[in-house]
Amino acid sequence: MRLAYTDEGPGPAVVLLHGFPLGRAMWKEQVAAIGSMYRVIAPDLRGHGDSPAPDGDYTIDEMADDVVELLDTLGLDVPVVVGGLSMGGYIALSLAERYPERIRALLLMDTRAAADSPEVAARREELAQAVLSAGNPSPVIDAMIPRLFSPWISDNRPELVTPLRRVMERNAARGVVGALRAMATRPDRTPVLPGIRVPTLVLVGEEDVVTTPVEHQAMADAIPGARLEVVPRAGHLAPYENPPVANGVILRFLDEHQEPPPHPPS
Ligand code: MLT
Repeated sequence: MRLAYTDEGPGPAVVLLHGFPLGRAMWKEQVAAIGSMYRVIAPDLRGHGDSPAPDGDYTIDEMADDVVELLDTLGLDVPVVVGGLSMGGYIALSLAERYPERIRALLLMDTRAAADSPEVAARREELAQAVLSAGNPSPVIDAMIPRLFSPWISDNRPELVTPLRRVMERNAARGVVGALRAMATRPDRTPVLPGIRVPTLVLVGEEDVVTTPVEHQAMADAIPGARLEVVPRAGHLAPYENPPVANGVILRFLDEHQEPPPHPPS
């Protein structure tokens, strides 16, 4: 599938995969800051934004295959940095398991490795039915918005909420349903974590109630050499809610794990 994408900046590629039911617009501040030093590639994932939203159910692995197809289209056969937030993190872990040779470093942000519990999967199907009945994504948006942002953002920066609601509203009902079912059927990737052999940054908003700091600590503990960073004044969308801190952490990680130059300076 041909994904719509943003491709900006010089240097080594950093691929950023957005959360559900968002789009590449959520990475605006990262494209600006990280894109001044690195080549930021941010697709709209299948079913979201300007990318196709085919009928039928999707899988996280199919969504990961779309990303590999994009890398191939861009001629990026060298390993790249892959960062995913929440659903984007599920896709990043699918890539880490199935295409480890394509990844140079990993950023796992506000996400988890475990599969859905039966209760969560059933709740997603209820939401999918509600979206199909409504013919638009509003049932999901109304359910999610109150859980995405930290209370600090809701109280002090409410202007950050509306643009993301607009991003969500643009998504087609069938794309949102496809992605809900993809998340509900994804496998448990906890067993993948100890086998990750690339530098990994695990980043979470201090007040993330969807994927909590405690879960991120466990994920970081399971990945050899991984580092955990907790972003203050942020919930489930840490890079969007607190870009100065999140970008600083990400840039420091990227700088530390720059590929060595092919020939040492003489
Ligand atoms: C996301 O932000 O991508 C979603 O919260 C993921 C999920 O519902 O599991």
